Amino acid sequence: MKGVILAGGSGSRLHPLTKVTNKHLLPVYDRPMIHYPLMTLINAGIDDIMIVTGGNSAGDFLRLLGNGREFGLKHLNYSYQEGEGGIAEALSLAEHFADDGPVCVVLGDNIIEKNIRAAADDYRRQGEGAKIILKKVDDPQRFGVPVFEGGSILRIEEKPDVAASEYAVTGIYFYDPSVFGVIRTLVPSARGELEITDVNNHFIEQGTLTWSELDGWWTDAGTFASLLRASNLVAETGANNV
Ligand code: DAU
Repeated sequence: MKGVILAGGSGSRLHPLTKVTNKHLLPVYDRPMIHYPLMTLINAGIDDIMIVTGGNSAGDFLRLLGNGREFGLKHLNYSYQEGEGGIAEALSLAEHFADDGPVCVVLGDNIIEKNIRAAADDYRRQGEGAKIILKKVDDPQRFGVPVFEGGSILRIEEKPDVAASEYAVTGIYFYDPSVFGVIRTLVPSARGELEITDVNNHFIEQGTLTWSELDGWWTDAGTFASLLRASNLVAETGANNV
């Protein structure tokens, strides 16, 4: 299974911090933000990785990460998203890289305390369809929120006014290569983006989406409050512990 990190977008919720640089190059405690999703993939045994970036300072990812030698990698792949057409659009740029195989996708601003090894192994056994990872949070309405019936997910609602459950859909996803065909059928949402939640709802309708719950803390880092929270959590416990 290959890995894709989505690190495009304008980071407008972090202006002026992101006016001249890319959100994923900002510090989270003692490292640039992009280090954390990279470790998430590597700790899950995924070492063939593409970073999709965009916006400001895209070239600085090369200077910072090079071929990933610091992480024990032989090579890193890069792609550039023009504009900010959404998470699903950014993922579509990895189609050639995926080469008809499964991918683990991690959003560049998602940071975890532990690892996703069990979920990755489960998905390797699952072999097709999609898998998402959920986490109980205090403010689910900021995220994609699963609506449950019994133990199964009926649908996911993106940033609902009232959350139907206490869970957030984290920015860690597993897909088979049919995901790229699904993305081609999407239409932009009210915020003008191709939404990853629409992709996940498609797999739910097909009956091929599974989910698991993440162990340890999870946070995004795309707002001032969550960026600070991320730094504090990393300082307290460290991140990407195996
Ligand atoms: O963090 C998890 C949440 O991420 C999920 O619960 C939501 O369902 C999902 O839509 C997403 O929500 P956000 O609105 O917080 O995503 P945001 O626009 O902050 O983008 C998250 C990352 O995705 C960002 O750090 C880089 C990447 N991205 C985003 C956009 C809009 C791209 O690579 N290209 C893009 O055009």
